[in-house]
Amino acid sequence: MHAPYEVPRISVSGAPLADADVELIIIPIAQDNAAAAARRYEGALGDDLQSALDRGEFRAKANEIYVARMPAAGWKAARVVFVGGGPRSEIDVERVRRMVVTAAQVARNQKRERIGWADLEPGTISAAARIETIAEALVLANFDNGVHKSRDGNQFFIKEAVVFTSDKAVATVDSGRFMGESINAARVLINEPGNYLTPRLLAEKAASLASVPGITSEILDEKKIESLKMGLLLGVARGSIEPPRLLVLKYNGVGASASNTLGLVGKGITFDTGGLSLKPADGMERMKDDMAGGASVVAAMRSIAHQKLPIRAIAVVPMTENMPGGKATKPGDILKGASGLTVEVNNTDAEGRLILGDGLWYARELGATHLIDVATLTGAIVVGLGKITTGLFGTPQPWIDHITSAADRAGEKVWQLPLFEDYKEQLKSEIADMLNSPGRPAGSITAAMFLKEFAGDGPWAHLDIAGTAWAEESKSWQPKGATGTMIRTLIEVARGGFPAA
Ligand code: BES
Ligand code: MN
Ligand code: ZN
Repeated sequence: MHAPYEVPRISVSGAPLADADVELIIIPIAQDNAAAAARRYEGALGDDLQSALDRGEFRAKANEIYVARMPAAGWKAARVVFVGGGPRSEIDVERVRRMVVTAAQVARNQKRERIGWADLEPGTISAAARIETIAEALVLANFDNGVHKSRDGNQFFIKEAVVFTSDKAVATVDSGRFMGESINAARVLINEPGNYLTPRLLAEKAASLASVPGITSEILDEKKIESLKMGLLLGVARGSIEPPRLLVLKYNGVGASASNTLGLVGKGITFDTGGLSLKPADGMERMKDDMAGGASVVAAMRSIAHQKLPIRAIAVVPMTENMPGGKATKPGDILKGASGLTVEVNNTDAEGRLILGDGLWYARELGATHLIDVATLTGAIVVGLGKITTGLFGTPQPWIDHITSAADRAGEKVWQLPLFEDYKEQLKSEIADMLNSPGRPAGSITAAMFLKEFAGDGPWAHLDIAGTAWAEESKSWQPKGATGTMIRTLIEVARGGFPAA
């Protein structure tokens, strides 16, 4: 097994581009700025860029690459690579991230150890946000998901990157770099197959990922989980010979108010077979990513602590396999969770909401006042929002608005869906407090309504990442596999503090 990623050294320089002492320099160009850029680099490149524009070989569209023909005269860098930004008004955080990752792949393919990025296109975002994103994306780009290949391990990582900028607001390089590393680490866990990542191993690896100054962690074993009467988590775990775990992380930032505590709850199903309500064979292998929510909240906590944000935060991640073993919960069984609510399990494949029910209850028990859960919860959200947008649910509206604006700053797409009381009817069971699988109509909404029963009366939000946690195909800015979605958003939520009550 080789390294899945490397974190390059990243520095900032105010030197002119001609003096950039790097093997390859990447220059972003907005579409509306392409002709001006061609004139600006005429001295160094001759008519190379202009004639590429004339031929239509390069149009500076988003993520378009043009490798300059000649080494630039009088420049120290041996290679110049242009990356298109599209119209300047469209250049936001996500566009910058994609441009950097796309161009950095060219550098990796050319095996350039020391590269430069010219911070030239301001786009629509602040310098601080832009530089943070550039640093984050340089780390994201240095990722390889073929860690288990014993052959063809031709992976090359960038060792050092220099951001050339005239801006003085460059303190965000460090936070961006650390966020990139946190996201990469989460992606490694999410990509791991079920046999390499049992609940016990996930608990250990997640705890070690979160072992940064300021975070205390605790792993609850099956005995402790039993003593807490978490019958929903235990009910899912019964079908497996692997025991469940529950990871708890706590962070008390300096200067944090004692009255509010962020509670992050992540789904940690290390493999979801569906249980006795077995999933079809086709595509079941995907279900190794069913702990993506859990990995995301752990990665977010790690960056929250690194940035020493002045808040209190708790993460709770229930972890188990969902297997159809001899002791497995059977359709029709009734489980009783730690909160006291009883659930008729009419479908053992609706297991995420069960373990999250106990997880949400426990986060509140530990003092969380503002809850967010993150889960690959429903196939229905993939039908509704595709693989582009994360489903957002919750209450009250100011808390949801707080999360929406954080996602916007993070450059991640979320969309709110309703939780009208009328949907609750579908959750009715004849013999228990509720049903875990209320049927096909509005499947993502009824799953969220189920979670709401465990979230109490305070602020709570649910992010359904079943569509966004995993990329089915590789893109220039995103390898196939785990995306690490919502980590950035959770960090931004924490940065934003708590909305006025
Ligand atoms: N982990 C799945 C949801 C999922 C589906 C994630 C597709 C990623 C891609 C979840 O545990 C599940 O099986 N949900 C069921 C719920 C149903 C039985 C009510 C579903 O969505 O089919
Ligand atoms: Mn399932
Ligand atoms: Zn699942």
